Amino acid sequence: MDLYSAIINRESVRRYRGESLHKQLLDMIDEIVDHSRPLVEENRFRIMRRDVVTGEDLIAAMGGYGRILTPPHYLVASAVGDRAPLVDLGYRMEQIAIQMVQLGVSVCFIGSLNREANVRVRFRLNRQARTGAFLIFGHAAETVPGRTINAVIRKASGGAAKLEAKDVFYDGSFEQPALPPKALMKLIEAARRAPSANNAQPWRFLWQAGTLTLFVQKYNPRYGNKAELQEYRYFDGGICMANVALALEALGIPGDWELLNTSTLGVPDHPAALEPLAKLKLS
Ligand SMILES: Cc1cc2nc3c(=O)[nH]c(=O)nc-3n(C[C@H](O)[C@H](O)[C@H](O)COP(=O)(O)O)c2cc1C
Repeated sequence: MDLYSAIINRESVRRYRGESLHKQLLDMIDEIVDHSRPLVEENRFRIMRRDVVTGEDLIAAMGGYGRILTPPHYLVASAVGDRAPLVDLGYRMEQIAIQMVQLGVSVCFIGSLNREANVRVRFRLNRQARTGAFLIFGHAAETVPGRTINAVIRKASGGAAKLEAKDVFYDGSFEQPALPPKALMKLIEAARRAPSANNAQPWRFLWQAGTLTLFVQKYNPRYGNKAELQEYRYFDGGICMANVALALEALGIPGDWELLNTSTLGVPDHPAALEPLAKLKLS
């Protein structure tokens, strides 16, 4: 599958065939993992590929929601660093996820933010390591019952309906919800299709003076009430940034994200409920 189609067509798969992927395919995935691009060079990133042990309940062990049936493999990624480790993890893991989809491999993230301490112990990670989410992968169950079960679990796990472009895009100021201009349409489409925990879709875009700035909601009820779960906005924000970066690559448009924070000079005016995450430098 070509890169842009993989971004647009990816969907979370929760019912797998169970059997391991062929060794050649696993080797290709290891290559993909080794070549994921960082957002913050200084962050220390580590990734482990694991097989699911038969009968192991990954959701219970790792703190996700819903059900995943007979997945064969998963990736555990962790990042240590002071600057945006969760954003960086989402950014790298989504690059890996999309490239797996290109190879015909199905994927689903499983959130672990409410179990990070357990995850650190279980995988012997550094005490400062952040994980955010696991990436389950394998061949989807393609039989009709398999697909039906997948659709049912998908619906029960927060659904997959995406916000419209006009609900996440603003032109000039946050007073002006708008459709993206033609030049940005495909990038915003890629952003909209990003997966997010509980399908929260915390991303909002402001197009102002030729710059696209990405914000995330500081609070989204879909993440739940605990403060640590609200941190999914960073992981999901990173995923969304990866989709845009991959779309740029697919469309042959040079450009790059630059991370922002509330104290960065020149951040456009925005509602207090939003937090600036990054701006896109298009050359
Ligand atoms: C950080 C993160 C954590 C997630 N955790 C879970 C999970 O624990 N269980 C689950 O079934 N799906 C999980 N998902 C998948 C989302 O529910 C899914 O991305 C969302 O509903 C949108 O659907 P789509 O991925 O098919 O576009 C997670 C996704 C992300 C990005």
